[in-house]
Parts: sequence; structure tokens; C-alpha cells
Amino acid sequence: MKKSEYELRKIHGGVFDKSTLLSLERLVRKGYIDELESIISTGKEANVYHGCMREKEIAVKIYAIDASSFKNMERYILGDKRFRRWRNRRQLIYNWAQKEYKNLARVHGFIDCPRPHQAYRNILVMDFIGRDNIPAPRLKDSPPKNPKEYFNKIVCCIKGMHERGLVHADLSEYNILNRGENPVIIDLSTGVLLDHPLAGRFLERDVYNICRYFRSRGVDCDEREVLAEVKNG
Ligand SMILES: Nc1ncnc2c1ncn2[C@@H]1O[C@H](COP(=O)(O)OP(=O)(O)OP(=O)(O)O)[C@@H](O)[C@H]1O
Ligand SMILES: [Mg+2]
Repeated sequence: MKKSEYELRKIHGGVFDKSTLLSLERLVRKGYIDELESIISTGKEANVYHGCMREKEIAVKIYAIDASSFKNMERYILGDKRFRRWRNRRQLIYNWAQKEYKNLARVHGFIDCPRPHQAYRNILVMDFIGRDNIPAPRLKDSPPKNPKEYFNKIVCCIKGMHERGLVHADLSEYNILNRGENPVIIDLSTGVLLDHPLAGRFLERDVYNICRYFRSRGVDCDEREVLAEVKNG
């Protein structure tokens, strides 16, 4: 590891537990991470770090094993045929990181989202969205200059995910990064396949959230029309 375990701990204030440190070391050995440089976001379920790999910027999302609100998580993963039943919280979190990886891999190339590089245990490595250490702002903090056009781009993303068999299930201005007036969809861990029992409800909620946000910015939009467009192409 370029940074010794001691140095990694020092940089991040001792936040990594032993098992996460070992997993990070493995990702370094396998050539997915060169260094972790700074923290981008601390959240209830995960912290996101900025790092680098062969001169390229990467984002590293580390799910907390303890802090996670795992009852809520189960709503989005129970009934997903891609995952075996977990026996404890740790296994659920590992599946959760794997789920975000699989969802990103499924839709990357069809919509704008980070390309996933690797998921190992509770750690996901992916493209960094931003430049020169600065992440692209969330849509919430960087409203679009042309809301109508931007709204249409997001509808295309919802449609693109749907065509690939996926519903995001936590879509809102918080989980969209605004890269040069183009939406980049992030945080796909909640995403469910269309055969999930709650897929329809989640899709309606995503569309509702997006319409609510854009209506407040003066866009004349209708949930039913958007839903019909997403479902019928
Ligand atoms: N690939 C990325 N490139 C750049 N920044 C990112 C990337 N992924 C996440 N971020 C930053 O980290 C923040 C949190 O990421 P994300 O939404 O995936 O985590 P979260 O699960 O919502 O965490 P929380 O526990 O706060 O809800 C984002 O708002 C964004 O600022
Ligand atoms: Mg989020």
C-alpha cells in the first residue's frame, strides 16, 4: 500500500475499522486504488472519498457496517433474485455494495452515471464525477439554467434505466450531479429490477420527485404523461 495502514488511519481520523482497512489494502494490491486523498461526503449509510488510480481520479464509496439503517435497506433488496439470503448485517451490506455495482454496470453506457470499477465487501470503486479534486455539484445545489431542457434529459435517464430493466428508487435532486448542465445519475444502491414487487411504486415516486422539483422551477410537467412515456417508449 502506498500509504501505510498507520497513515491511512491518520488521514481519515481512524474512521476505518480493521476489516475495511484490510479490504482497502486488497483493492490497492489488485490495482483498483492507488491512493485515497480526501473525503467528499459523510452520510448515514456511506462515506465517499476522492482518490486516484494511475493518475485518474476515482470515487470510493465505503458503506458503514454498523451505522446502516438496515431495516430500510431490506425493502430494496428482499425479493431481488440477484442476491442470496444474508445471515447477518455485514452480509447484507456486502450485498448492498454489490447491488450498486451491478445496477451501475447495467445502465452505464445507456445513461450518464459513474462507471463502476469494482465492488469488494463494503467498498465500491467507480469513476469520479468532477474535475481536479472537485466533485460536480448536486442538482439541489446547482439548479439548471434551462430547466425544461434539463427535465427532458432526466426523463431520458429514467427511460434509459427502465429500458435496461431498472428503477432507481431514490431519484431526486440529491442523487443527480450536475456536470456542465448535464445530469449524471448517482447512488444506485436502492435500484430494483422491474420484477421487484415494489418496482412500480418506486418508479412512480421517482417520477413524482422529479416533477415536484421541476414544477417548482417553472416547468409544466405531468407525472402521468412522464410515466406513460417511460413505460411505453
Ligand atoms: N462518483 C462520484 N463522483 C463524485 N462525487 C460523488 C460520486 N458518488 C458520490 N459522490 C458524492 O458523494 C455524495 C454522496 O453519495 P451518494 O449519494 O452515492 O451516497 P449516499 O448513500 O446518499 O450517502 P448518504 O448516507 O448521505 O445518504 C454525493 O452527493 C456526491 O456529492
Ligand atoms: Mg445519495
